Amino acid sequence: MMEVEANMKKKDIIIKAEEVCKEYKIVKRNETGFKHLLIRKYKQISAVKNVKIEIGRGEIIGFLGPNGAGKSTTIKMLCGILAPTSGKIEVLGKDPFKNRKENAYRIGVVFGQRSQLWWDLPVCDTFYLLRRIYKVSDKTYEASLQLFRKYLELDSIWLQPVRQLSLGQRMRAEFAASIIHNPEILFLDEPTIGLDLVAKKQIRQFIKKLNRAFNTTIILTSHDMRDIEELSDRIIIIDKGEVIFNQTINSLKQKYSDSTILYISFVNSIDKFPISQVIEAKQMGNGYTWKVELASDSISIGQLINEVTKYEEIDKFEIEEKDVEDIIREIYQHGV
Ligand SMILES: Nc1ncnc2c1ncn2[C@@H]1O[C@H](COP(=O)(O)OP(=O)(O)OP(=O)(O)O)[C@@H](O)[C@H]1O
Ligand SMILES: [Mg+2]
Repeated sequence: MMEVEANMKKKDIIIKAEEVCKEYKIVKRNETGFKHLLIRKYKQISAVKNVKIEIGRGEIIGFLGPNGAGKSTTIKMLCGILAPTSGKIEVLGKDPFKNRKENAYRIGVVFGQRSQLWWDLPVCDTFYLLRRIYKVSDKTYEASLQLFRKYLELDSIWLQPVRQLSLGQRMRAEFAASIIHNPEILFLDEPTIGLDLVAKKQIRQFIKKLNRAFNTTIILTSHDMRDIEELSDRIIIIDKGEVIFNQTINSLKQKYSDSTILYISFVNSIDKFPISQVIEAKQMGNGYTWKVELASDSISIGQLINEVTKYEEIDKFEIEEKDVEDIIREIYQHGV
């Protein structure tokens, strides 16, 4: 325990949010008349509530939560695009909103839903401009370019205007553009949205490579659990604006894989499951098939099947293991 704490202290914390809240003010519509044109009524939306986060240099964080949970809002505050309503944020030792310009040289951002490239310019011109804007040195630029060539296949689209690119090609260019200045922190908000399996894999490999090669800190949101599982050291789950989970994927699995689901089909239809040492047994159809949830710390699957066959003849059975996606879905539905 002492050792863990000591390690935590040694870690270079570069993102820190303390009791951060964000409220949006939206105009309430008055459907019944024109009154709203004269008297504007506002409604407050609490998008982020008392969020406390610490992220160390070199970490890859999977930032999760259902639609509307507050992920993008939090990311925008950490990038300095939005100011929090209350609370304190420190990124690389400074308030990211007050030091937006300075901060921009040290972070990279990709919003999968929105392009940051110049639509009419060829990819190569975009990079030329970005290189000037960020004052990227020749050495950094050459190193970045080599990495892009190898992992993002930019050569084939180098001369094409951005508006002609396919989604997958554009995302590769977006990625490259966001890291041309070799940022210390990279914020990725749904970077693989809409991409095919090959493109997703390519982006994932690139994220990994970037993290290993430059110790880049990465904050990643995605609704694709494979992205999260493959990349994240730690996951933070936010729900209705509040952080509800903040641990490694392994501890998530350990904590929530406390039961196994079995589908048992019987030769004959039965109306009561014969064994009581289960969490739940539910009929799936006509009493022939039952969905059974078995606690990990009770009897084993073998013992259960043995016991059941003493009473009823089993036709077949299937074991369903919970994967991260199932666990996350349950957390979204029922909380932690
Ligand atoms: N500019 C805005 N003005 C008013 N309300 C907003 C604004 N942006 C977001 N919201 C609201 O804040 C809440 C959080 O939104 P946010 O975009 O942060 O969610 P999210 O976790 O990124 O969701 P998703 O997975 O759908 O991208 C939602 O209720 C949303 O409607
Ligand atoms: Mg979002």
